[in-house]
Amino acid sequence: MIHTILALPVLLIHFIVTNPGEDASRQINVNWHCSEQGSCMLLMKDSETIAVKAEEKLWSYPKGDSLFQQQRYVCSVSLDNLEPGTDYSYRIVAGKDTSDVRSFTTASGTRTWNFLAFADFQHAFNEQAHKIIAKGLEFSADPDGKTAGKSAPLVICSGDMIDTGANEESWRWILGTPLFGRFIYAAAPGDHEFWGVKPAGEKHIPQMETPATYNAIFNNPKNGVEVYRNSNYYFYYNNVLFVALTLGDSNTFLCGNFILEAEWFRKTILPLKGTYDYLVVFGHKSVFGSYKEDRGVRKYLSPIWYPVFTEAGVNLVVSGHDHMYSRTYPLKDDSVSSTGDGTFYLDLGSSGNKYREPDEGLYSDGLHAKVLNLKAEPQTLGASVSVDRKRMEVRVFNLDGEVVDSFVVPRKR
Ligand SMILES: [Fe+2]
Repeated sequence: MIHTILALPVLLIHFIVTNPGEDASRQINVNWHCSEQGSCMLLMKDSETIAVKAEEKLWSYPKGDSLFQQQRYVCSVSLDNLEPGTDYSYRIVAGKDTSDVRSFTTASGTRTWNFLAFADFQHAFNEQAHKIIAKGLEFSADPDGKTAGKSAPLVICSGDMIDTGANEESWRWILGTPLFGRFIYAAAPGDHEFWGVKPAGEKHIPQMETPATYNAIFNNPKNGVEVYRNSNYYFYYNNVLFVALTLGDSNTFLCGNFILEAEWFRKTILPLKGTYDYLVVFGHKSVFGSYKEDRGVRKYLSPIWYPVFTEAGVNLVVSGHDHMYSRTYPLKDDSVSSTGDGTFYLDLGSSGNKYREPDEGLYSDGLHAKVLNLKAEPQTLGASVSVDRKRMEVRVFNLDGEVVDSFVVPRKR
């Protein structure tokens, strides 16, 4: 598909995203782009409004035919000392221009709540991605079909939100729905977030060294490994510790940066044991996903990450990349844990319109409890995770709101 992106102007205020701070009960980050200097955030709680000044950085991504070539201000706010368990709303203001009202709810410390997970919104410009987010918000407000409550305050995504990281128009598509104004959004970059613009006539797609455009759009906690600062990070929401990994990077398939990220995990995340009820990891490439589609994952990534996840006692790993739906039994020591004490690997497959036939290995390896053939029966999927003190209940839903898989992740002792 060819898009005449150069004809599009830089919008005055755009790409407004609410990201978590490290402790999402008190810290929330907001990021936006503005073509003019001096925009600010109006933060509202009850009848109170305060103006918050942004840190502004003049930025562009100079390569290829990307609209990101046009300079704009990347504006970042890191809110601190917020009140836990509180509804906030905000607008961004630049001169006479005002954004729509966005809202978020800080974590309250409650141990009964829910969040949404998605993977792979691509292909860019499809109709399903926004619909599955809307369905997720509706579904999460009433996952048991009993009494409708509030929709999930937090949405995570394991990457490949767009087709080409360097293409601004595709970011405008995915972030262009007002739905993104309704939750805290935490995403990990996929390989497509690393994609640069392919010069005409070239076969090879150049890869960015870091997910530069992703890093200009999201304002995540800066607590990850140096080489992936902002795309590798952790945060707490209620009783869950979430860790975002940069498993999308295809530049470093021979693993230099992955090894650094795994070392960071051991040094940083392992000592946090005891500070949470559940440990949830999200990253793009699934270490128990496809055997054939991207062979390097099993060859290079699994040997690095599986021992780390096992050692850390990770409860749930959410990923995508291969566009096949698969979900393992709890795994520990290279086999299915008989006690249920292990790590569940959820490869969500597709939260957009790109589907592949599952590998034979996924059906026959004895590790997978559920495999769906999304190629034969195309389905756009998301997961709603209900958390309480004893367990997390994961319900995988489709666009019709039907539950196509569900499983219980017990809390570890
Ligand atoms: Fe991918």
